[in-house]
Amino acid sequence: MTLAQRQAIDTLWGKYCLQQGEVCDFAETFGRHAPIVLEIGFGNGESLAKTAQENPDKDYIGIEVHKPGVGNLLAQLERQGITNVRIFYHDAIEVLEKCIPAQSLSGIHLFFPDPWHKRKHHKRRIVRPSFVHLIAQKLVAGGYFHAATDWQHYAQYILKILMAADQFSNQSPSLDYCPRPEYRPLTKFEQRGLRLGHGVWDLVFKRH
Ligand SMILES: C[S@@+](CC[C@H](N)C(=O)[O-])C[C@H]1O[C@@H](n2cnc3c(N)ncnc32)[C@H](O)[C@@H]1O
Repeated sequence: MTLAQRQAIDTLWGKYCLQQGEVCDFAETFGRHAPIVLEIGFGNGESLAKTAQENPDKDYIGIEVHKPGVGNLLAQLERQGITNVRIFYHDAIEVLEKCIPAQSLSGIHLFFPDPWHKRKHHKRRIVRPSFVHLIAQKLVAGGYFHAATDWQHYAQYILKILMAADQFSNQSPSLDYCPRPEYRPLTKFEQRGLRLGHGVWDLVFKRH
């Protein structure tokens, strides 16, 4: 952890981080009624901070288990005066289960989840049928789930299990992948991958 991340954690935690374990009241948290978008595994928070800044009419909840990433996002929020983001430093599944009210989210973002390349580790992947069932409960009708990955096998797997879920419809006209929506900024990692000729697959599904 860098000194700046450590300082951000020491001084800004109470201002932006939410307590795990209680069901959130978003209107109270943000002091207004606005669409809520959840980002799972925001990494260093670069794209979450940018998206939140460009969409001041929405409120954002970020979840991350990597503390330096939380410190990084805290510092960015403060530096850039971003008021529409709150953070959970905790496991995303537990937060979804225990803290997010039913039918409260307008969108769920999952950008570049850990792919767990080896077959014997596939069971650690966050996207699985029980995850799809969980997010279906938390999204409002008409809300969306957006995943992006640079690992084709994972993209194919996400596609397969979401196509099998009757609560969702694929927003891709060809019923597979979508072009990157404008609200998803390109990360440095992704730009580097694209320069090296790697693919990226975006999947956008709407909750009925
Ligand atoms: C490959 S990184 C991608 C980070 C970021 N979304 C990006 O595009 O740069 C995956 C992130 O998901 C986080 N993560 C993995 N499992 C998680 C979980 N169960 N709950 C919350 N975050 C998780 C990891 O700590 C890591 O930062």
